[in-house]
Amino acid sequence: MTAAMHRLHQECEDFFKQIYIGESRVVVFGDGDESAPVILVGEAPGEHEALERRPFAGKAGRVLDEFLESIELPRPSVYITNAVKFRPTKQSKSGRTINRAPTREEVALWRPWLIKELAIVNPKLVVTLGNTALRAVTGRDVLIGDTHGQVISIEGMPQVFALHHPASVIYKKALPETYQKDLSVLKGLLARLNQ
Ligand code: URA
Repeated sequence: MTAAMHRLHQECEDFFKQIYIGESRVVVFGDGDESAPVILVGEAPGEHEALERRPFAGKAGRVLDEFLESIELPRPSVYITNAVKFRPTKQSKSGRTINRAPTREEVALWRPWLIKELAIVNPKLVVTLGNTALRAVTGRDVLIGDTHGQVISIEGMPQVFALHHPASVIYKKALPETYQKDLSVLKGLLARLNQ
């Protein structure tokens, strides 16, 4: 790990300890090649990620790996992180601890850390996975339904490419075809970036 990333982890842990006093929240930092030309940004860790302290360690991660391999972008060649770096939870009706989507406040609280992380890795392309990541990275109220498969240019930032979240492909029947199309656009984009 680079010294800059190590410092970021420490500062981040210290900051959140002051906010969530007395709570033992597991922070799941980004993982992968810190000099990668591509960063993938997801929403937030779930149960598996919190246990393994690694983004996309569960079912959505396996779907993501398949997609990445289909465009010859194996996971070790990218850096992967989340917009929110602890597992947002709630109690189910039966009293189980289950995942929930992060709130806008949580996304806003984590955003400066995400932006610092992007600056350290300094990729050529940021691929956002789903709405939360798209909004966290761009800082704009954009919708994945309107922007998926497209490049978004923002001053002072690497190019952003919006993809649906891999978990949504598991649940929505119509999505896999759209996803494959978006991935082939991404593949072409990566080929151009590598020229
Ligand atoms: N796992 C992650 O790390 N992030 C997600 O967005 C979903 C699953």
